[in-house]
Amino acid sequence: MFDGKKLYQSLSLLGSLSLAFTIPWIVFKVCRAIHLKRNYNALLGKVVLITGASSGLGEALAHEFYKQGCQVVLCARRRQELERVRTELLQTHPTVPTIPPIVHPLDLSDINTLPSHVDKILAVTGKIDILINNGGISHRGSVLATQPDVDIKIMLTNYFGSAALTKAVLPSMIKNKSGHVVFISSIQGLMALPERSAYSASKHAMQAFSDSLRAEVAIHNISVTVVSAGYIKTELSRNALTGSGGKHGEMDAATESGYAPGYVATEVGRAVVQKKKEILISTLVPRIGVFLRKYLPSVYFYVMEKRAQKHSF
Ligand SMILES: NC(=O)c1ccc[n+]([C@@H]2O[C@H](COP(=O)([O-])OP(=O)(O)OC[C@H]3O[C@@H](n4cnc5c(N)ncnc54)[C@H](OP(=O)(O)O)[C@@H]3O)[C@@H](O)[C@H]2O)c1
Repeated sequence: MFDGKKLYQSLSLLGSLSLAFTIPWIVFKVCRAIHLKRNYNALLGKVVLITGASSGLGEALAHEFYKQGCQVVLCARRRQELERVRTELLQTHPTVPTIPPIVHPLDLSDINTLPSHVDKILAVTGKIDILINNGGISHRGSVLATQPDVDIKIMLTNYFGSAALTKAVLPSMIKNKSGHVVFISSIQGLMALPERSAYSASKHAMQAFSDSLRAEVAIHNISVTVVSAGYIKTELSRNALTGSGGKHGEMDAATESGYAPGYVATEVGRAVVQKKKEILISTLVPRIGVFLRKYLPSVYFYVMEKRAQKHSF
């Protein structure tokens, strides 16, 4: 028989229980939002050096940090493109006060020149609060067909260049007893793909370097964030080097359908203000790949073998 009283008691118990969980959850969310806002406010006036700022993700990162009131130092090889980004930043974001971006061309692969570049930047800005190691090139070609010079060029730019720049910036961060170093790695820093040996190797090296670094510099109040990103819709595949050192020159389908650079830049910005040690920005399939590589390597080896046989980029 229908017992209205019992139903009423059950419903009110359910209501009380859900309130007991919902209210703390809402309070937690509000506190987190306030905390996050406060952290974003702390970015005001920070000096952020971004490599690879002339295009793609680096350009989007310049927008992300500039609009938060940071002084961005835009680095890459092409001065004209850096000037374009600088003009667009000034035109797009009416920041108050306006801290004009600094254009500073440099070549990451010219590692011995990087300390003097850092000295010149410090002479203007006085400090570097956040270093974003983003500049890089990719690779298309089998191990056999890739000349050792190409391997060296990719490692020099992606790994040795970022490592040398970090070493040049660190003493000033240690002196200031604060700093943040960000490495833009890739899913391919966690899981290698065929036809990308040099690129994957450079990103794996970057991952390992940053883990050592993080442990060493924590005592100096310096944070290290590694960003392992999936495909982003940028010029990366067009600029990728082939085995003979030429440009791949094509927009791959996976890159074409990748994340918008602005979305990834926002995620990186949030990771920095939250001082995250690592983040993974990816769709489900690459995440499964990373899982397989770690926990079921024989399945991963099989899938990669099949992929290599298809010779698909
Ligand atoms: N696109 C993706 O699917 C994807 C996915 C995961 C991770 N990433 C990473 O994201 C980062 C940015 O790449 P992107 O996707 O934005 O590609 P992108 O549009 O080709 O940009 C690469 C940037 O790196 C700079 N660069 C290349 N060689 C350099 C050198 N020797 N010295 C200084 N700067 C150099 C380029 O500037 P100049 O040519 O003016 O020097 C350019 O600004 C890279 O580290 C890449 O590995 C990309």
